[in-house]
Amino acid sequence: MSKRVALVTGAVGGIGTAIVTELAKAGFKVAGTYIAMEAKILPDWKAAREKEGVSCELFEVDVTDFDACIKLIADVEAKCGPVDVLVNNAGITRDATMKKMKKDNWDMVINTNLNSVFNVTRNVVEGMLDRSYGRIVNISSMNGQKGQFGQANYSAAKSGIHGFTMSLAQEVARKGITVNSVSPGYTATPMVRAIDEKILKSIIAQIPAGRMAEPEEIAWTVRFLADERSGFINGANVPVNGAQYTCF
Ligand code: CAA
Repeated sequence: MSKRVALVTGAVGGIGTAIVTELAKAGFKVAGTYIAMEAKILPDWKAAREKEGVSCELFEVDVTDFDACIKLIADVEAKCGPVDVLVNNAGITRDATMKKMKKDNWDMVINTNLNSVFNVTRNVVEGMLDRSYGRIVNISSMNGQKGQFGQANYSAAKSGIHGFTMSLAQEVARKGITVNSVSPGYTATPMVRAIDEKILKSIIAQIPAGRMAEPEEIAWTVRFLADERSGFINGANVPVNGAQYTCF
């Protein structure tokens, strides 16, 4: 049987890179997306993956643009084959308290973290339905479960992913497709390291595990949900947060 194809959005970021690596090692043919402003890091990124024996076909796209996502999926399928696994991982932060939050920072975060999930999934799901197989994994966040000071935009988008996940799972479950979310807590990536040092220190002090997650720990969870054998886990959220936020 030919390799299953996995598409990861935001592939060259902290968690994205770990997901690409994990899925490639699990035997998937991996495609990934990046945005134009990341082009400058691509040579180093590709060299590092090559050194690890990981291959990933990269596509430049702005996932906030629906029409660009139509073209993305056509390009990925032409080059790699039909998408069996979709990991909606692209995301940004623009943290600010409400009184300081610019309209732009609200729009950018909702467009990148939530509308992108619709834009990409909408163009993948029909093929999955036709083929009666698919795994969709949406990267949400612990802060989409509990909220976070200074993150009304980010938490709203990540909460929205939970609603999207639960609803779509019910629509497609009969067709062999699963839709789940993963909610990382604070993870050692450049995005989190950008938080003011004093604030980050106080956040880490609140994590029962006493440390942040490693990107590989998030990637492992994605691999588990992307596996064929995870077919009855559907409409679920998997928290990966070192016991910082526990709820059932
Ligand atoms: N709870 C309550 N009050 C707080 C607070 C908190 N957590 N943090 C700050 N404050 C208070 C300050 O003490 C200060 O009080 P006074 O006005 O009485 O002095 C006031 O709030 C400061 O308000 P400002 O609007 O001036 O805030 P700021 O501009 O200085 O900072 C912020 C706002 C940039 C959002 C900053 O608080 C921050 O960076 N917070 C961390 C946000 C965060 O956790 N981001 C996660 C990014 S990683 C990620 O998102 C990945 C993931 O999925 C987990």
